[in-house]
Amino acid sequence: MLTLGIETSCDDTGVAIIRDGREVLCELLSSQIKYHANFGGVIPEFAARKHLENLFPLIDTALKECNISGSDLDLIAVTRGPGLMGSLIVGVMAARGLSQAWNVPLIGVNHLEGHLFAPLVDAEDLKPPFLSVIVSGGHTEIIHVHDFGKYELLGQTRDDAIGEAYDKAARVLGLKYPGGPEIDGLAKTGNPQAFPFPIPLKNTDKIEFSFSGLKTALLWQVKKFHESGAEIPVNDLCASFQKAAIEALLVKINLVARRTGCRKISVSGGVSANSTLRAALRDNPNFLAWLPALNRCTDNAVMIAAAGYNAWMRGVRTEDVMPDPSLHEFGQ
Ligand code: KG4
Ligand code: ZN
Repeated sequence: MLTLGIETSCDDTGVAIIRDGREVLCELLSSQIKYHANFGGVIPEFAARKHLENLFPLIDTALKECNISGSDLDLIAVTRGPGLMGSLIVGVMAARGLSQAWNVPLIGVNHLEGHLFAPLVDAEDLKPPFLSVIVSGGHTEIIHVHDFGKYELLGQTRDDAIGEAYDKAARVLGLKYPGGPEIDGLAKTGNPQAFPFPIPLKNTDKIEFSFSGLKTALLWQVKKFHESGAEIPVNDLCASFQKAAIEALLVKINLVARRTGCRKISVSGGVSANSTLRAALRDNPNFLAWLPALNRCTDNAVMIAAAGYNAWMRGVRTEDVMPDPSLHEFGQ
């Protein structure tokens, strides 16, 4: 069964063709980072226009690479939300048009369920029940996957998402967008003990995250350096920020693993590319961790095709797929 995945929820245009939910025949991504980097964040209008420019050539290339035509596909899976309205419209309307023209069924996919499926593509041994931690620019959530389609939200952030905190911290430090890879890179040559930033909600037994205080603590440090005129130790600040941010995640992952008794944990979303997080998860004796391949941590269409295929096979049908920027619930 051939599934075409389409992802346009934010600033990455992704197209992929997969066979039987796992075998990746082609994956293409057109990143807009170089355009948005100058503005310190994604410009929604611009992102939508770039998707419009990039999407059809990518689909064309994918079909050629797989040596098939559109009507050979068995399913089209498209992200319908959450995300930026303009960006979602481009992907959903293109998918609806192609579905009609090729007479291929269409399924709308929740972007977060897509992230949840990213580690599953390469991991035949990862089966429910397991815990899924989604750490991205827009979300920080721990989900109990009782089964595919049966998701229980155990905890989320009460303010900024962790990726958002990275992006804002990078801006404070005068680094480029997106901030995660920038801070992660500079942290490698910094001293993580240099600034003892608070580890948010470390001593509460709530399954909840908070990252805005950490970002503010960094801002105050930077302000002090500005006022004194001393050179800002960017690498040490990055390493110290990263230590606190990742520790805050790990504390709650450990807590939820203890509380649920579930030792199988998958972590996905842009921040799952983080080197400190990946090392800590791999070395942790308390649980078994699954992570996506590095190129499938951030937004991509393979995860959308995989989630769409899985939903289709378990009988989910989404009539009249429409973009929904604030879509949240899974399995809908
Ligand atoms: O999943 P994603 O591509 O988009 C959303 O659905 O939000 O995640 C993007 C986020 C950005 O905030 C980016 O700064 C962060 O993931 N990110 C990282 C790293 N690579 C990307 N954060 C920390 N360390 C990284 N290596
Ligand atoms: Zn995402």
